[in-house]
Amino acid sequence: MTKGRASAPAKIILFGEHFVVYGNPAILATIDRRITVTAKKAKDGKVKIKSDIASGEFDGSTFRLIEGANARATLEPLYFAAKHSLDARKQKGGLEIEIKSDIPYGVGLGSSAASLVATIAAVESLLGRADKKKVCESAIEAEKIIHKNSSGADCYVSTFGGMINYSKGGGYKKIEAKGKLFLVIGDTGIKHNTGELVSSVRKLKEANQMAFSGMMSQAKDMCAQALTAIDNGNTDHLGMLMNESQLLLERLGVSHEKADELIEVAKSAGAVGAKITGAGGAAR
Ligand code: PMV
Repeated sequence: MTKGRASAPAKIILFGEHFVVYGNPAILATIDRRITVTAKKAKDGKVKIKSDIASGEFDGSTFRLIEGANARATLEPLYFAAKHSLDARKQKGGLEIEIKSDIPYGVGLGSSAASLVATIAAVESLLGRADKKKVCESAIEAEKIIHKNSSGADCYVSTFGGMINYSKGGGYKKIEAKGKLFLVIGDTGIKHNTGELVSSVRKLKEANQMAFSGMMSQAKDMCAQALTAIDNGNTDHLGMLMNESQLLLERLGVSHEKADELIEVAKSAGAVGAKITGAGGAAR
């Protein structure tokens, strides 16, 4: 094969973000925005990665910038994942990887997980066959370079698709919604750094173990109620749970004034519930 091509979807977290890092369940769903990656073999042993936000070339431990601020840090997880596939097959050659994305990045829609999943799947199919379980595991390993305590939730939903009930170590179960769930996703345009936000929650947890464990129980209970509400097609209850979940996230300090404004706009326009999705906050 001369070309490997794969795409992976963006995601939203309906319930359980942050708490999922500590073993709680979370409900996630993919959305119709994708990242598409094309991988070709290169003879020179170098790995060149081109995307809309950063481009560069890795030659062992040397990096040559082509363009983009922070390009090395952005591309390194993708490089390590691609190199892992090459090494596992004892391939000495290099790669040319091209990434096309219609997912806004850094706003909680899982663009880094989707780019990892699509890159690994494209490289794996170029070199042989892409096995979803292996793609997902490799994406989670690479995501730990971006934030070391990743729950793996984003990589799972981006690899396997649909709506899922996920927990770290417990894997995932597909959720079949009875009726249609109408969701509007708003983007404040404010970028965040997931690693920083996960660390800030960890600090809060360490400073208030008792309060945090109370919040974990509440979040777990909300997730269980949400599964029943989805199963029964009870959107009013689902909306109420979203509002409660947002209150918990505010207590974690991961909301943002712009997100709060958007939530109010959504509610006054008739939304039965509204919350942030993903890590929240803003980059420092
Ligand atoms: O904003 P995102 O897509 O990076 O969401 C990360 C979700 C967290 O629960 C905050 C972290 C994780 O590893 O699950």
